[in-house]
Amino acid sequence: MTDYEHHDYDVLIIGAGGAGLRAAIEAKQRGLSVGIVTKSLLGKAHTVMAEGGMAAAMGNVYPEDNWQVHFRDTMRGGKFLNNYRMAELHAKEAPDRVRELEQWGALFDRTKDGKILQRDFGGHRYARLAHVGDRTGLELIRTLQQKVVSMGTDVYMECKVLRLVHDEHGAIAGAVAYWRPTGQFVTFGAKSIILATGGVGKSWKFTSNSWESTGDGHAMALWAGAELIDMEAIQFHPTGMVWPLSVRGLLVTEGVRGDGGVLRNSNGERFMFNYVADMFRAETAESEEEADRWYEDHSAGRRPPELLPRDEVARAINAEVKNGRGSPHGGVFLDIGSRRSAEFIRRRLPSMYHQFMELAGVDITRESMEIGPTCHYIMGGVKVDADTAATRVPGLFAAGEVAGGMHGANRLGGNSLSDLVVFGQRAGLGAAAYLEGGSGPRGFDRGEVEAAIVQATAPFERESGENPYDIQRDLQEMMQANVGIIRNGPEIEEAIVALETLSERVRNVAVAGGRAYNPGWNLATDLPSMITVSKCTARGALERRESRGGHTREDFPKADPEFGTFNLAHSVADGRWDGEFTTVRSPLLVMPDELKALLEEAH
Ligand code: FUM
Repeated sequence: MTDYEHHDYDVLIIGAGGAGLRAAIEAKQRGLSVGIVTKSLLGKAHTVMAEGGMAAAMGNVYPEDNWQVHFRDTMRGGKFLNNYRMAELHAKEAPDRVRELEQWGALFDRTKDGKILQRDFGGHRYARLAHVGDRTGLELIRTLQQKVVSMGTDVYMECKVLRLVHDEHGAIAGAVAYWRPTGQFVTFGAKSIILATGGVGKSWKFTSNSWESTGDGHAMALWAGAELIDMEAIQFHPTGMVWPLSVRGLLVTEGVRGDGGVLRNSNGERFMFNYVADMFRAETAESEEEADRWYEDHSAGRRPPELLPRDEVARAINAEVKNGRGSPHGGVFLDIGSRRSAEFIRRRLPSMYHQFMELAGVDITRESMEIGPTCHYIMGGVKVDADTAATRVPGLFAAGEVAGGMHGANRLGGNSLSDLVVFGQRAGLGAAAYLEGGSGPRGFDRGEVEAAIVQATAPFERESGENPYDIQRDLQEMMQANVGIIRNGPEIEEAIVALETLSERVRNVAVAGGRAYNPGWNLATDLPSMITVSKCTARGALERRESRGGHTREDFPKADPEFGTFNLAHSVADGRWDGEFTTVRSPLLVMPDELKALLEEAH
């Protein structure tokens, strides 16, 4: 066996977004040795794409807000498929996590009396999102990063983890990775690993996700023996840019609607009034006048329909475009310029102002934006214990977007940033408790290391073969067309067949040149994860014969109460990326009566 560069840690954290950084702080504070590995750069993570804010029932703007209302909103937004215990912990602990960020230097916007200001977002009963203009994710990352660095944490940047490594008893013992700039392999011995790798959005053609979101953590967890749940639940954020084509999918924050922006079709109609589901009817305004009164005072009038949860708004936009009432480039119009002053827009939404001005030549203080749904987030992920973030594999933990359960079938905007820090902290604690209990690996399976390296370097051994970029493009187009916002059985079945063909093609990928600075090779090492998680999404989408949250079947257009009682859990028996996996119904946790009572009204 070759000797590779090697490092040992108590806790290895894979991913340097909000969840990974918060987990690192917690583990460091408990005196553990911590290494963070990121295939990207420190400070660059999908966390920054949660622009509009972080949801926490602090009651700074509406004192009547509290964790119970936040819990109810989250469960209802998730169409009750959530792990209730995660939603409960999240609602209770988010305010402390926000205050802690402030203590560590985050510069939140302020109310007139100096408290942290909170803004409206879809599905939240009260103005609840602590924010920094429309750059909240960036500020969160900046703050956590500074704290992590000041604590002297080792960070391995541009280092891509290929596989998790077990000990002789099946517990987690480390990981094998390579440096992207040099192509050299590196191994990590770790008594515990926290996955914080984010999402899977790069398997779709139009996405707010950047190149990093290739489902690495989801796939590695599955291959290592953990389960993935709810993988069919994909969030299409209603507002991504549709034009110019080069930036199609780039996020337009929900903060635009939270601050008074409205959606119109090509007839100038505020169409969201036509798409209010029964569940939300009692609390949704019926006229523009009523909706506008609500912005001034939440006790006057009812909520504007533009602030329905994201799944509802994305489907409505999709229907408008399909019915010929779309904008010139295939979206609809988002207008804030005619409703708020230019000063207000530039102060509250500075990034949006610059984004449209620089990229599209559109002045949003005067003109409408053209927007449409963009793949933004996966609610599904690694099945974890709510309190400790532990998976079923000893020593393996997961937090943030890579973990499933918290958001059920649909995530409310703003609940992601708070999820990252609530469960990042809990994962750090969970790993510390695991090690305090005397657990830890016995041995390091070098066979797994060698197998991962053989697989990763195989594309250089082939004289001819498939170009990884062709496979990536075909995957993205196929997933967009067959497993997009609106799905049906025959198209999903086609997707499942297509994914088998794509798997074959990945086995025949060829890459030229050396391992240093080779983006084609880097992509070739991402493709197995992309295909694996897409298979879980397609499999789940076929099996869930109902519509719920971020999973809409035109052949089963309603939610089916029976399907609301379980998650679909995928697992692989033999730990190979193309290995057979099974999908089973995993019953939801039974909720205590006092929490059920909070939901009764919502039902
Ligand atoms: O629209 C946004 O600012 C995104 C927020 C989120 O995904 O939580």
